[in-house]
Amino acid sequence: MAAIETEELSKDFLVGFWRPRPYRALDRLTLSVDEGEVFGFLGPNGAGKSTTLKLLMQLLYPTTGTARILGRPVGDLGVKRRIGFLPENPYFYDYLTAEELLGYFARLFGLRGTQVTSRVAAVLDDVGIGAERRLRLRQYSKGMIQRVGLAQALINDPDVVFLDEPMSGLDPLGRRHVRQLMLRLRDRGCTIFFSSHILSDAEALCSRVGILAQGRLVASGRLSEILAFELRGWELVVDHLADDLRDALARQARSVTPLAHGRYTIELPPDVGPEAVLRELGDGGAQVISLNPLRDTLEDYFVQAIGAAEARRTGL
Ligand SMILES: Nc1ncnc2c1ncn2[C@@H]1O[C@H](COP(=O)(O)OP(=O)(O)OP(=O)(O)O)[C@@H](O)[C@H]1O
Ligand SMILES: [Mg+2]
Repeated sequence: MAAIETEELSKDFLVGFWRPRPYRALDRLTLSVDEGEVFGFLGPNGAGKSTTLKLLMQLLYPTTGTARILGRPVGDLGVKRRIGFLPENPYFYDYLTAEELLGYFARLFGLRGTQVTSRVAAVLDDVGIGAERRLRLRQYSKGMIQRVGLAQALINDPDVVFLDEPMSGLDPLGRRHVRQLMLRLRDRGCTIFFSSHILSDAEALCSRVGILAQGRLVASGRLSEILAFELRGWELVVDHLADDLRDALARQARSVTPLAHGRYTIELPPDVGPEAVLRELGDGGAQVISLNPLRDTLEDYFVQAIGAAEARRTGL
């Protein structure tokens, strides 16, 4: 069964003070996310990602179209109990401690007594909030508030979570932490729908992505299908490279760039087998620091897809 489905979902906002006109923020979005999937909803600023999430959460009402979660209309109370939502810039009453705030949410979902304490402790552990849980939220940094927001989204042990920019405001360690948390959620069968413009996070997490540009879905599918992942070459970083070996390699390489004394970055074309080069380097006493395939990334795709949408819009 599909966990999330939208059909021809559109949203017009009225903009302008004297003569308000409709502005189409989301244009006929038709999308389906399977149960247990991690779906990345990608697009640049203003593409309509948050608008879509707000429509799914019924914080906004659609101009046209419909949306269903777990097979039921979005307003269904039974469904609301089974979903979690992290808004774009979570904001909480900041005289409460994280424990008090989450205790409040836990009670809203019907937990009582020791159930509340143990559930709150478990989600705070999960999002990586330690002893600070006893501090008032006023003293929290942006990244910590983001984690409290995540904890709030998970308090009811949801089957489907909607996360609007879950990594925003987190440092690299925090990002990794949240990625791991999302993978743990997936492993226990939770469906995750998250928006992002951080493409590397989507690459690391998603089974499928949708790319939104100017309110329209310009592509969707498995990452491996959308991206050809065409091999464009190899990048080698080598240390202690003798001059004669460097000159020999330069004949096969696309480029040889000196970094420091004896250390080079070498870019090889895709048809040069790196195995043979590695052997040669080893025999010549060089030390290989790293070897990386050069491929199309989601970023490249993003730029192309948005460029194409822009061209269609302007008729070029
Ligand atoms: N309440 C509103 N009234 C008028 N226009 C709005 C309103 N909310 C959003 N918009 C417009 O709709 C478009 C889509 O906004 P949305 O917040 O969905 O984008 P987004 O993809 O979430 O962007 P970001 O990556 O910056 O969060 C934008 O052009 C925005 O200005
Ligand atoms: Mg947004």
